[in-house]
Amino acid sequence: MYKIIIEGNKKISGNIKISGSKNSAVALIPAAVLCDEEVTIANVPKISDIDALDEILNHLGAKVEREDDTIKIDSSKIENKLITQKIAKKLRASYYFMGSLLSKFKKVEMYFPGGCSIGARPINLHLKGFEALGAKVEEKDNLFIITADKLIGTKINLDFASVGATINLMLAAVKAEGTTIITNAAKEPHIVNVATFLNNMGAKISGAGTSEIKIEGVKYLHSCFHEVVPDYIETGTYMILASAIGKEVVIENVIPDHVESLISKLDEMGVPIQIGVDSIKISAKNNLKPVNIKTQVYPGFPTDLQQPMAALLTQANGKSMINETIWENRFLNIAELKKMGATAEILTNSKAVIVGPNKLIGKKVKATDLRAGASLIIAGLIAEGTTVIENADYILRGYEDIVEKLTKVGANIKLEKCE
Ligand code: EPU
Repeated sequence: MYKIIIEGNKKISGNIKISGSKNSAVALIPAAVLCDEEVTIANVPKISDIDALDEILNHLGAKVEREDDTIKIDSSKIENKLITQKIAKKLRASYYFMGSLLSKFKKVEMYFPGGCSIGARPINLHLKGFEALGAKVEEKDNLFIITADKLIGTKINLDFASVGATINLMLAAVKAEGTTIITNAAKEPHIVNVATFLNNMGAKISGAGTSEIKIEGVKYLHSCFHEVVPDYIETGTYMILASAIGKEVVIENVIPDHVESLISKLDEMGVPIQIGVDSIKISAKNNLKPVNIKTQVYPGFPTDLQQPMAALLTQANGKSMINETIWENRFLNIAELKKMGATAEILTNSKAVIVGPNKLIGKKVKATDLRAGASLIIAGLIAEGTTVIENADYILRGYEDIVEKLTKVGANIKLEKCE
């Protein structure tokens, strides 16, 4: 277990380079299993969620070589072994092995995935989609056994534009017989990144990034080189942080279009933002205006930036409302922010109010999930005095070198192993 210790109330300045996207990389690695030859993926972030996927690849017998940010995966000789509860539970994205192994072997046995406790997180849409493709799903005590004689392309309409279901069904359909059409598909940048990766291997996927994705099944997927797209949630987290305590912070290696909804909110708050081709420069300003936020599927305001944003809203002049529409349990950071002096209330499990500006004071707080942890890092850097964030392991799941990156721009922050 780790903790993060911050001495706050200090401006940061300089350049922060964004890493490859967590939510893209965690789908690309299970997708690599579908390749009939070796694939190379570059710009893979060094985060513990990737280590957990590496463990699953090793368990299945894939040949994996990791050097710096590049990973080479040869799954041509993998075995279709049960993915045990212990390894499935380490992260949410283990569920992408359902789609890829089902596609490769027509059978997969794995336990229910893990991930942050931000809601019930059912996988019914994934399973319904596998069934529509011709698979049989059996479940007992959280063990899923999914089998198919063959997978046959079909039309699948998702009740909700789920990121995970869209990717999992692309994986399952990529080698199916005939054509699959997913309607009401999710449009997040990582959906496009996964579809591009599969197309680089010879898949025939069109429409990724729109609500209708067409997948024409192919028999063979060949070797390719692919790069993970920059992480727009990491980008957004540092943009929010810079809006609170930045003095000319330049966030590099970004795709500004991916954070359009955040740019427009920060603009509404009065944050000065300069947008370059692949960089964003932000300097904090006093007298920020309060704003209302409603989380939505992409390109709406991302739920994964809602908790970091809550920390910034404690510094705005007046009442801000947050409406969380994706997850039922994503306000656990609010209690911790209150300990630090925030005037905030949870009204329902989808609505919270923050009335700023609040003077935040460093305290001992707990990260309850990844983005709650990011929220507390921002609050800790704003606050006077020392903040100790316990359960910092959550943060290391998704932010590459966060302590090093913040130290480089002048933050007083360190990571310590708990006794
Ligand atoms: N849903 C269902 N049934 C399903 C699937 C989803 O009801 O079969 C519901 C969920 O309960 C939720 C909503 O649909 O209310 C959205 O779920 P989605 O499937 O889109 O989310 P996910 O694939 O489980 C990914 C990210 C999350 C991110 C969401 C939304 C990964 C590994 N996780 O989760 O990332 O919040 O999309 O954008 O890609 C994070 O990075 O901190 C994180 C939690």
